[in-house]
Amino acid sequence: MKQDMIVILDLGSHENTVLARAIRALGVYSEIYPHDITINELKALPNVKGIIINGGPNNVIDGMEIDVNPEIYDAGIPVIAAGHDKARCSIKLPQFTDGVESIKNAVKSFVFDTCKAEANWNMTNFVNDQIELIKRQVGDKKVLLALSGGVDSSVVAALLLKAIGDNLICVHVNHGLMRKGESEAVIEVFKNQLNANLIYVDATDRFLDKLAGVADPEKKRKIIGGEFIRVFEEEARKLDGIDYLGQGTIYPDIVESGTKTAKMVKSHHNVGGLPEDLKFELVEPLRQLFKDEVRACGVELGLPYEMVYRQPFPGPGLGVRCLGAITRDRLEAVRESDAILREEFQIAGLDKKVWQYFTIVPDFKSVGVRDNARSFEWPVIIRAVNTVDAMTATIEPVEWPILMKITDRILKEVKNVNRVCFDMSPKPNATIEWE
Ligand code: XMP
Repeated sequence: MKQDMIVILDLGSHENTVLARAIRALGVYSEIYPHDITINELKALPNVKGIIINGGPNNVIDGMEIDVNPEIYDAGIPVIAAGHDKARCSIKLPQFTDGVESIKNAVKSFVFDTCKAEANWNMTNFVNDQIELIKRQVGDKKVLLALSGGVDSSVVAALLLKAIGDNLICVHVNHGLMRKGESEAVIEVFKNQLNANLIYVDATDRFLDKLAGVADPEKKRKIIGGEFIRVFEEEARKLDGIDYLGQGTIYPDIVESGTKTAKMVKSHHNVGGLPEDLKFELVEPLRQLFKDEVRACGVELGLPYEMVYRQPFPGPGLGVRCLGAITRDRLEAVRESDAILREEFQIAGLDKKVWQYFTIVPDFKSVGVRDNARSFEWPVIIRAVNTVDAMTATIEPVEWPILMKITDRILKEVKNVNRVCFDMSPKPNATIEWE
């Protein structure tokens, strides 16, 4: 690893990740560690040029106020504190709500003048480093990867492919709840263009049979998740000599599960509930990256823009948008209306502006008129929301002419649909998905 690093010690701030992102935005790599890191653990980290002790309101654990190990001041590495008045030297950071820019300015002098860190954190170096590290970890062994086509798994696939080529075996499970053209795009990019070793499993019938008649949202999710693991496990058992499992774990997964202003990162051992006898060691080359960096990495690796900048899509797929018990014809109405919505949002430029947008088809019908006769068909509901962290969300005020064009197309092109509605509800009280 060539890049210099600034270590952030978590002494109870809510904003460690904002600080890490600000330092990375200066071109210097930064990672967050628990407050009680020892001097030996610290010295074992590569190229640490400086330490920022980041204090905050969560600095009491079990009734005791916590502090850093005093020995870290003797590591010969510059130390500065923010929001922690007991430290030997400190800086005042701006309000985090002021954004990354003002934090960058506040830490710039410490990072470059005091620590003499070099601004050498960029995606080209990251990719080159990771290729080296993957080769070192895996050698000539084989790695198995569940390639859903989502941003993280796609970028991991592209990175592993560059590092180990044919020794990467990707499995794409189509659970029948993918969006229109999604599995085809995975095959086109990875198999046809990048020549990856890709096993495509069309498990549509299997999933839809299991889901038949199941209306409870939680049960649907459990069936989809459980069946996914079983299909993947069956494929893994057919293959010989696999020692590693690729994972799209990213930095927020690690930080969020590891804070509580103490214990280290969660170690993701047996991922996705695979059975005990299927033991793999994990390869997680994105574990240092924030989401926007994952996208930048995908661009660096030459993945198509649409794949890298696509909107979030839930694991259970269209299954949570085909409300109640899923039927094939209603699922088709969800898939076709979603495709029209995505196409029209792209034409209107809204795909780059709106965080998440999709359609829902409920399991009831209403009366309408088609070809001068009474019809009894489903409604399609359009949802378009903006959010920063998916915890709360607001509605995108889509302009009438765009909504009218989408409505017109859905009513003409999607079978068994006679109404289109727009969901006006923010989160809370609603959630983003309907199930
Ligand atoms: P809600 O509906 O809880 O959704 O407001 C928040 C965000 O999470 C996505 N979502 C999921 N993602 N598996 C996922 O990978 C899931 O089971 C799941 N459920 C919801 C949702 O699309 C939204 O972006």
